[in-house]
Amino acid sequence: MTKEQIICGDAVAGLLELQSECVDLIVTDPPYLVDYKDRTGRKVANDNSPDAVLPAFAEMYRVLKDDSLCISFVGWTALDKFTRTWVEAGFRIVGHIIWTKDYASSTGQTAYHHESAYVLAKGWPRRPETPFADVQPWVYSGNRWHPTEKSVENIGAVIRAFSKRDDTVLDPFLGSGTTAVAAALNGRSAIGIELERRYCDLAQRRVAGDKRYLATKDQSASKAA
Ligand SMILES: C[S@@+](CC[C@H](N)C(=O)[O-])C[C@H]1O[C@@H](n2cnc3c(N)ncnc32)[C@H](O)[C@@H]1O
Repeated sequence: MTKEQIICGDAVAGLLELQSECVDLIVTDPPYLVDYKDRTGRKVANDNSPDAVLPAFAEMYRVLKDDSLCISFVGWTALDKFTRTWVEAGFRIVGHIIWTKDYASSTGQTAYHHESAYVLAKGWPRRPETPFADVQPWVYSGNRWHPTEKSVENIGAVIRAFSKRDDTVLDPFLGSGTTAVAAALNGRSAIGIELERRYCDLAQRRVAGDKRYLATKDQSASKAA
């Protein structure tokens, strides 16, 4: 039987509670280190504090089983800091996934029409028979519960591609609980860690299946792997 465990607190402290090599897959969406603020003024904790975010990757490496993968979302502006941290932790970069958006989430020298994640290997995971396409359609979450909420559809597709039923999926920057909900809906166990109490409580309610806290699309998600 699958189960969901949500730890409220700092990622490193929460990860230190876990045994080495106890998770099959990590899917995580850390603060992008851009001091983000949405149109309504919502911010992301530690989004301007590399020292409060990056050390978690060494502990993620420890708790991940050998020959397994970590999929980490990242923004291009702090890519140098993240890649250095990943490599120092022991990960090898083995893939890069892009989600294309039909709207621009921001603009600078270019209009930002994508999100991205890197596929990081601990050891030498077996290559899948049918590899996950590294360009994917973006499904907008609505950001109802969290300013940088990912959709259950996008995270669920990653979980199905890189894990099997009854595996344990970890997200130490859980936010509103999307990774744990997507894991549960796909027959995987989940461990999530989140700093902010309000998001821990929300994540608990979402994984408990409280329909008031599920996005509309979540409710139609199936349990199929
Ligand atoms: C980009 S958001 C994740 C959003 C999530 N994917 C969702 O769909 O709701 C990153 C989260 O990491 C949390 N966070 C920041 N620093 C943390 C830390 N040191 N330990 C644990 N969580 C932290 C923030 O509170 C925020 O909710």
